Amino acid sequence: MLQYQDLNPQLLAAEYAVRGVLTQRAQELEQKGRQIIYCNIGNPHTFLQKPISYVREILSLVEYPELINHQHKSQLFHSDSIKRAREILSYIPEGTGAYSTTMGIEFIRRAVADFIQKRDNIFSDFKRIILTDGASEAAQMVITAIIKSPTDGILVPIPQYPLYNASLKLRGGASIAYYLDEDNGWQLDEQALETSITQARGNGITAKAITVINPGNPTGAVLSYSNIQMIIRFAQKYNLSIMADEVYQENIYNPKHTFHSFAKVMHDMQINDVSLFSFHSMSKGYFGECGHRAAYFEIRNVPDDAFSQLVKLKSINLCANVTGQIATYLMVTPPNPGEESYPVYLAEKQAILNDLREKSIIIGEELNKIPGISVNSPDGAMYAFVKLELPEHMMEIAKSTNSNLDEMYCLALLEETGICVVPGSGFGQKPGTLHFRMTFLPAKDQIINLINQLKSFHLKFTQ
Ligand SMILES: Cc1ncc(COP(=O)(O)O)c(C=O)c1O
Repeated sequence: MLQYQDLNPQLLAAEYAVRGVLTQRAQELEQKGRQIIYCNIGNPHTFLQKPISYVREILSLVEYPELINHQHKSQLFHSDSIKRAREILSYIPEGTGAYSTTMGIEFIRRAVADFIQKRDNIFSDFKRIILTDGASEAAQMVITAIIKSPTDGILVPIPQYPLYNASLKLRGGASIAYYLDEDNGWQLDEQALETSITQARGNGITAKAITVINPGNPTGAVLSYSNIQMIIRFAQKYNLSIMADEVYQENIYNPKHTFHSFAKVMHDMQINDVSLFSFHSMSKGYFGECGHRAAYFEIRNVPDDAFSQLVKLKSINLCANVTGQIATYLMVTPPNPGEESYPVYLAEKQAILNDLREKSIIIGEELNKIPGISVNSPDGAMYAFVKLELPEHMMEIAKSTNSNLDEMYCLALLEETGICVVPGSGFGQKPGTLHFRMTFLPAKDQIINLINQLKSFHLKFTQ
């Protein structure tokens, strides 16, 4: 029988805190009848965020085309949804149950290229777009493709969404941590990048790429144009590929900030010798369609022979799930003004984004009022990375019990209040600092209630 110790040590070493100890304990408590407020994962529909209607109308129609001619169709579906479902099926008469071509269905990849072209006002080549089962798959593909040996590494942000460290561990590559600057709204700092790459070299590690998450998870930060320019210059200087995780590009709440894609900034800088992999997904934004695993990545500045190896890698999985591919198509081609479903679409989109905006403001304002707790108000994404100041003697207790203090704090918070957040150590944090990450996806009244509970808990815990 297969034993634990028979397993691949790289699998055993990989960690993914977002679904770690805290979530397991929360589930146990829930089974015992406790009410849990899950703030541990960016999974909007579990917080009863409603799916955007036109997406589900069209997906229903393409999954079950008999509905297109149903006698009550006009009561169930907007006329433009029916028209678009017909159009989609005209490209794939075989429907959603057949494999597609490896890179994804061509008309969808063309639509993705048009979307990028419109978003950034730059050329995008559909032949360099691959549809994937979530952005996670795309990131893992790039890591698989570029890590050749244990001395190859990728620069990854700290704190970081743990997909990157976990995938590097699985593939036997080195993770080269660079610290985001908490005192400067979690932007990247050139000196910190230089320090990390120099230290890595000293340890015999060659950096092959840099991962940047913008807007940030877990930080909620939106990178400035000049910060992105600095990163691109840095990548060029050290011959690094850039992995631009841009899955939160629609989630920007502070009107002082704008989303700048790496592709656009690189184009403006007229740089075309830095390989760029940009990821976008339907899991976030205002769609929140995590379960559909709908995503794409765009590849720039990679020669044909290297690119074809990425396509081969994708072909080992055959193709992205076809319903997810269609969902991606709907993400990049929402209804237009004048179409029947447009007013509903617009109202739904605005309601979701406005709600998130209000909650990001509440989090920023209210958490900073609690003594011993501070946070960079989240300008984007769906998270706040909250800093804790705990009394010195607590550090001693943590050391003597050989436990992470932030994990102890989060477990105690869960036991006491039912609030489930993720300890900062799951994302990495500067030594000597303590954090937790929370999503602001729960309903507004729950968020307000949660802040009050956190306040009393924090006071009690520190005393
Ligand atoms: C920064 C970041 N990248 C990628 C993902 C995963 O996206 P997907 O559901 O498209 O795999 C997440 C999910 O939370 C994320 O936060």
